[in-house]
Amino acid sequence: MNKANFTFHNDVEIPKIGFGTWQIPNEEAYDAVTMALKNGYTHIDTALAYKNEENVGKAIKDYNLSREEIFITSKLPAQIKGYEETLKAFEETVTNLDVDYLDLYLIHAPWPWDDMGKDCTEGNIQSWKAMEKLYNDGKIKAIGVSNFEIKDIQALLDHCDIVPMANQIPFYVGRDQEDLLAFCKEHNIVVEAYSPLATGELLDNNDIKAMANKYEVTPAQLLIRYCIERDTLPLPKSTHEERIVQNKEIDFNISEDDLKKLMEMEDVRK
Ligand code: A2P
Repeated sequence: MNKANFTFHNDVEIPKIGFGTWQIPNEEAYDAVTMALKNGYTHIDTALAYKNEENVGKAIKDYNLSREEIFITSKLPAQIKGYEETLKAFEETVTNLDVDYLDLYLIHAPWPWDDMGKDCTEGNIQSWKAMEKLYNDGKIKAIGVSNFEIKDIQALLDHCDIVPMANQIPFYVGRDQEDLLAFCKEHNIVVEAYSPLATGELLDNNDIKAMANKYEVTPAQLLIRYCIERDTLPLPKSTHEERIVQNKEIDFNISEDDLKKLMEMEDVRK
């Protein structure tokens, strides 16, 4: 249960917990990523849309790890669909980060954020083909998607060659998306959990607080551990060092009974 890595279907390994940088502005990203690296995170998750790639890359570079020791994920902006457009956006990302290759590159969403639900199937297929090329050229170690539902993934399976290696989705206690989890499992797609704390909204929940007390952990640790117990890869994020440290100390087990209770909870954000 306490394995260090998940393994993609192409045998590339990804550290079992990542440091998320969504909503961390470029000015704060350098310090936040440096703190994460200092405290043993070796997997950093960013995106062109977060507008912080430059300082994420600089922090990684200044920390003087060899490139192989660090796992970097970035994402193709949700509104960019198409073959050439994807190649261009990828170049922008590797230039911002100042790296030769990415460990994981994801389509950020199946539709633009200002037009959620729009059918962009053809655009996603063309973007995916560009990502397959980048993968085959050795510029990315693994490729995947984010915020994709079953039908969105199915379109890639039907029209493309490479099965996505990951799907990064909002996942937390109360938002389990069982059908999507089962589908990803069936196709050997690693599910990455973003917003494992429901963007902080679950931290004050009385049931979560009581259960965390029982395990002598914080609510955040219980919630992050829950992701691991559900076989998803948590991407907690914080700009505070004590929390960055705490969010990684999750080597305990949640009992079957408590897991069941957590799985029955309602989504606090609905
Ligand atoms: P901060 O950056 O001030 O630490 P999520 O990962 O679900 O999106 O949640 C992120 C939010 O949770 C951020 O507001 C972050 O605030 C807060 N947070 C992260 N880790 C902890 C923690 N261990 N304890 C309390 N709040 C946390």
